[in-house]
This record gives sequence, structure tokens and C-alpha cells, in this order.
Amino acid sequence: MAAEPKTEPRPEILAAFEAAEGFMPRGEGLALYAAATRAAALGLPLLEVGTYCGRSTILLADAARQAGVSAITVDHHRGSEEQQPGWEYHDPRTVDPEVGLMDTLPAFRRTLHRAGLEEHVIAVVGRSPQVAKVWGGSLGLVFIDGGHTDEHATADYEGWAPHVAEGGLLVIHDVFPDPVDIMTGQAPYRVYLRALASGAFTEVSAVDSLRVLRRTGAGI
Ligand SMILES: C[S@@+](CC[C@H](N)C(=O)[O-])C[C@H]1O[C@@H](n2cnc3c(N)ncnc32)[C@H](O)[C@@H]1O
Repeated sequence: MAAEPKTEPRPEILAAFEAAEGFMPRGEGLALYAAATRAAALGLPLLEVGTYCGRSTILLADAARQAGVSAITVDHHRGSEEQQPGWEYHDPRTVDPEVGLMDTLPAFRRTLHRAGLEEHVIAVVGRSPQVAKVWGGSLGLVFIDGGHTDEHATADYEGWAPHVAEGGLLVIHDVFPDPVDIMTGQAPYRVYLRALASGAFTEVSAVDSLRVLRRTGAGI
């Protein structure tokens, strides 16, 4: 009988996650890891929109490693609106001084290298809707953590949700039902409501702002 996948990360993976730059708290990270290990058992790749410096990617990569599948992470690495200079989530260390724009790709590569997970990840540098347009295969898990405007969150949902296989998981970060909770807005919440209203997804779990939905129907 095949061994059950571990749904809690090993201490060294958790330590690498906590040491990485990024925005995901530990509790949500544990929920993401549990979802990723379950989804990876389908034998299909796991895909993330919104790599940033690789904090959440570590968790998807380790879950993918355990199951012998790949984790794919998509980002243009120029930062979201709220990460630009002058905004609350800006980190000046992410600016490439030569180009004068954010570039989180070097930090992401260092994160994965330090965690020893480089060979389990395919990093795609590009705009999520463009990548989704040329993507052909089914996915065990789609994790949406890219741009937080309605334009971007909606495009991520429309581009990637149809690729989630029957029984696979759609995970959405920064779902805040109460508008006073967050300055980045409620676009992820609206996408979450839309996924549920489609009839194609059923909620499996909610940990803080992380929602895990399972694909249980066709029409998206
Ligand atoms: C909130 S951060 C991701 C955080 C990351 N998941 C973590 O755990 O630290 C959002 C990322 O999405 C990227 N992004 C925003 N809009 C995008 C788009 N349309 N296509 C690709 N990447 C995008 C930004 O460059 C940024 O790195």
C-alpha cells in the first residue's frame, strides 16, 4: 500500500518558509501545505499565481516533491500595485537599481536554492493571463495569490480555474468578507464567491484568509 502523504511540512521546510520574504502567515501556510499534499496525490502538477520571493512556493514545491509531480509558479516579478514604491507593502530591497523597477526573481531563486527545492519547481516569468492562454494541461491545484485588483484576480480565475481537474483544488488567498479587514481590497473575495456560485467548486476549508475549494462540477 502506498504511504499516505505527510500533510504537515517537515521542520526544515517550515523553517525555510518562515525565513523567506513574503506575506503568508504560518497558519495559512500549513493549510496551503495540507491542500497541496492532498491535491498532489492526483498525480497532476500544482500551479501558483504570484511567486513573489518564493515563500508559498516552498510549500507547493515540497508537496510536489513528495508526490513526484512538479510545482509551477507564475509571476512577472515586477510586483503588484500595493508593492510598488510609496505603497505599504513595498520592500526597497526588491528594486533592481539598474532598471529602476521591482525584480523579485533573484530573491525567489535564492529562496528555492536555500530550501533545496529548485529541481521540483518550474518558474514561469510572465503575465498570468498570457501564460494561462497557452496552458494546455489539467492541474491538481491552482493557488491564486497574484494581483489583487478586480482586473487581475478575475483574469487569474478565468484563466486558471478551468484547468483544475475534477477532484482538484482551487485555493484563493486574501479572501476578506469584511471590507474593513484589508487595504488591498476584496477582489479575491469576489472571485471566491464567483467560484462557489459557478457550481463547479465546493468549499473544503477556510483558515484565516485562505479558502480551499474542490472541483466537484463542470460549468465554470
Ligand atoms: C501577494 S504577492 C505573492 C506572495 C507569495 N505567494 C508569497 O507567499 O509570498 C503577488 C505577486 O503577484 C505578482 N503579480 C501580480 N499581478 C500579476 C500578473 N498579472 N501576472 C503575474 N504575476 C502577477 C506580483 O509580481 C507579486 O509578486
